[in-house]
Amino acid sequence: MATDVVVIGVGYVGLPLAREASRAGLSVIGLDVKKDVVDNLNAGRSHVDDISEEDLAAMLQAGFRATTDETAIASARTVVVCVPTPLSSDGGPDLRAVTSAMESVARNLRPGMLVILESTTYPGTTDEIVRPILEKSGLVAGIDFHLAFSPERIDPGNKDFGPHNTPKVVGGHTPACTEAAAAFYGKFVETVVRTKGTREAETAKLLENTYRHINIALVNEMAKFCHQLGIDLWDVIRAASSKPFGFQPFYPGPGVGGHCIPIDPNYLSHNVRVRLGYPFRFVELAQEINATMPAYVARRAQNILNDAGKAINGATVLLLGVTYKRDISDQRESPAIALAQRLRGLGAVLHYHDPYVPSWEVGGVPVPRVDDLEAACAQADLVILVQAHSVYEADRLAGLAKQFFDTRGVTTTDAAHRL
Ligand SMILES: NC(=O)c1ccc[n+]([C@@H]2O[C@H](COP(=O)([O-])OP(=O)(O)OC[C@H]3O[C@@H](n4cnc5c(N)ncnc54)[C@H](O)[C@@H]3O)[C@@H](O)[C@H]2O)c1
Repeated sequence: MATDVVVIGVGYVGLPLAREASRAGLSVIGLDVKKDVVDNLNAGRSHVDDISEEDLAAMLQAGFRATTDETAIASARTVVVCVPTPLSSDGGPDLRAVTSAMESVARNLRPGMLVILESTTYPGTTDEIVRPILEKSGLVAGIDFHLAFSPERIDPGNKDFGPHNTPKVVGGHTPACTEAAAAFYGKFVETVVRTKGTREAETAKLLENTYRHINIALVNEMAKFCHQLGIDLWDVIRAASSKPFGFQPFYPGPGVGGHCIPIDPNYLSHNVRVRLGYPFRFVELAQEINATMPAYVARRAQNILNDAGKAINGATVLLLGVTYKRDISDQRESPAIALAQRLRGLGAVLHYHDPYVPSWEVGGVPVPRVDDLEAACAQADLVILVQAHSVYEADRLAGLAKQFFDTRGVTTTDAAHRL
């Protein structure tokens, strides 16, 4: 029996896609190499923040199932590949999961299929890496099967913009491939934006995240000198944001995290360096500035304690919120890790609180978790608000603490030191 869509890689990206397709009435199979992921999904246990157990139950009820058996691909009308694309040790993209997933597609490719890559990658990947693998099947892209790239742009935890109302960019190998991919996503996404080809779709994703990365670096650099000049940058940003055109606010913080912002610009800068032999200077500068933020926050913490007549060596420091983003549990690339390492290196005795993180290790060493938030805030020599989860009433906690350092600009009280 034919399956409308096989999603390869059912993680943060693939599982929400499977849910949207399933809600739209399509038959969906999730294919993954991890047996425990597959077993958990089939048993109704979700490992992705944005997919609740109720969502998964509804999907299973509608016929969704997960499998490790690649022959499921042969039954698909559409195959969407959402596997990881981490950085390799030389700073370039590690495409092993993409090539391995595409090899399994090639072994099961049938005439008329639509194959879409969603994993973030450098321009040219779909045409130069994916297409030759698929064409080893003897079938030709644009003639025997459709091939397209469509970047995943979801903002995890965003309550206003989800998979159905975040416009979907699609770029096909041929115009007919673009139309086939647009027709597929049009079944469950409100707006589809077509690009000229696969390279434009690949680059659009990288431009979006590079833009974010660079603008965050801009305000992070400003945070440092504004502090020295006695200027409240948060107030500056609030004032500048009143301009109804030509300005978009970005906010400083203890560093960038997650699977996209610290990583994606590298795909572009690495590719420009390898192909053209020159650096993408904006990206390299932004990386340099953003990477200094955990150390900067640690130094400010040391100074706050020093001004209070206390050495950081031996001081108890409580970190509030250790995920990379507010109100989600994802800890990947979280700057809290680099900050904790710095503070520990200075001799601080660390504790943490995070409603989304039941246990936390830094460099293989566990950091004790506190449960009684208010008592712990009152006891610590310094409390650092690293992630402003909405459960934290920052002004009240700052009032309880001996010293309170707000790295997210959410406090309004003079009791807090702000980044
Ligand atoms: N997480 C995000 O918010 C986000 C946002 C936009 C884009 N992306 C991009 O989407 C892609 C996927 O990211 P993710 O966060 O969903 O990753 P993830 O690690 O959450 O999920 C990927 C899944 O793919 C599986 N997998 C790996 N190799 C496989 C193979 N050969 N065959 C089948 N399954 C395989 C893994 O076991 C895992 O379950 C990456 O390129 C990432 O850059 C992620």
